[in-house]
Amino acid sequence: MPQTKIIGTGHFLPEKVLTNSDLEAFCDTNDEWIRKRTGIEQRHAADDEHGTSDLGLRAAEMAMKNAGITAEDLDAIIFCTVTPDQFFPASANLLQGKLGARNIPSFDINAACSGYMCGMATANSFIQSGMFKTILLVGAEIAVNLMTWKYRDTAVLFGDGSGAAILQATDESEGIKYIELGTDGKNYQILELPGGGSRDPVRMDNISEDSYRIFMDGQELFKYAVRKMAELGQRALEETGLTVDDIALFVPHQANARIIEAACKRMDMPMEKTVLNLNKVGNTIAASIPLALHDAVSNGRVKEGDYVLFASFGAGLTWGVSVLQW
Ligand code: ACO
Repeated sequence: MPQTKIIGTGHFLPEKVLTNSDLEAFCDTNDEWIRKRTGIEQRHAADDEHGTSDLGLRAAEMAMKNAGITAEDLDAIIFCTVTPDQFFPASANLLQGKLGARNIPSFDINAACSGYMCGMATANSFIQSGMFKTILLVGAEIAVNLMTWKYRDTAVLFGDGSGAAILQATDESEGIKYIELGTDGKNYQILELPGGGSRDPVRMDNISEDSYRIFMDGQELFKYAVRKMAELGQRALEETGLTVDDIALFVPHQANARIIEAACKRMDMPMEKTVLNLNKVGNTIAASIPLALHDAVSNGRVKEGDYVLFASFGAGLTWGVSVLQW
């Protein structure tokens, strides 16, 4: 059975930066509160002229260049996002057109902060089954535009950006060694954006500032995320027969520095091995893991043969973990 390797990564962050202090002009918050509770110092914000597929395009182009391939070489495109350009068609379809790729399959995955883990599992299954050889896996979000600034508990957390990787079949022994995904749909209300869908459509007669409001039980989510990420990491190590010492790099979903630190403590994972870039980008939802991975790769933190552990937790509630030998 072929193994799945990552042969190139890329990223894109919009030029506009909103620091915590910038938010003070239109949101009842302050730099100290955000920094202390979350570790976030700033986030990038897309302009009004671009959609999520445009951000995905920039990351995809960089990933393909770094992998030494062109759009012609792609067999499928998987686009992970909860903030697509529009309801339909999928952002993946728009990206396929913008890339000038062949008429290959392309589709979106909506699994919030765990989107990229679901995408990785899907791509790995396609590759191991022999169906496809080369897959573009993108995570991209434009979340800042969706924020209702009077709800400061959630508005300050998110950021815009995109990350991408090229996953390819290989006969070598390295590649994805383990993946686990899960859902707890009974507790979906812990983090949700209920408005605008089929249950509560946005119409002229009911539109208001609150139509697109995110609801979050921050403390419940915090506890759940720490518990789950540590449990997932430990199980991934047990199942692969690895120890924390064997892991060269831990790439967790970047929601909150305190969540990551607490999960690492439970797993005995040293912070030196852990990617922490949320201070610069905020929580970029499905773009978080590929952005953090690209950050680590471009800083020379991964070399051939290294074991990389990924873990995510987010709305759904959803989670995912993966071990990849680089
Ligand atoms: N600026 C200033 N004050 C604020 C802000 C803000 N942005 N938001 C809330 N506050 C105030 C509250 O009103 C409250 O004031 P009060 O004591 O006068 O009532 C006080 O700060 C404390 O609020 P809490 O909600 O209790 O703060 P908490 O310590 O729980 O921190 C936080 C909130 C950072 C959201 C935390 O619960 C958390 O990180 N939860 C995890 C959720 C998360 O990361 N979500 C991201 C998406 S999910 C995912 O990706 C996993």
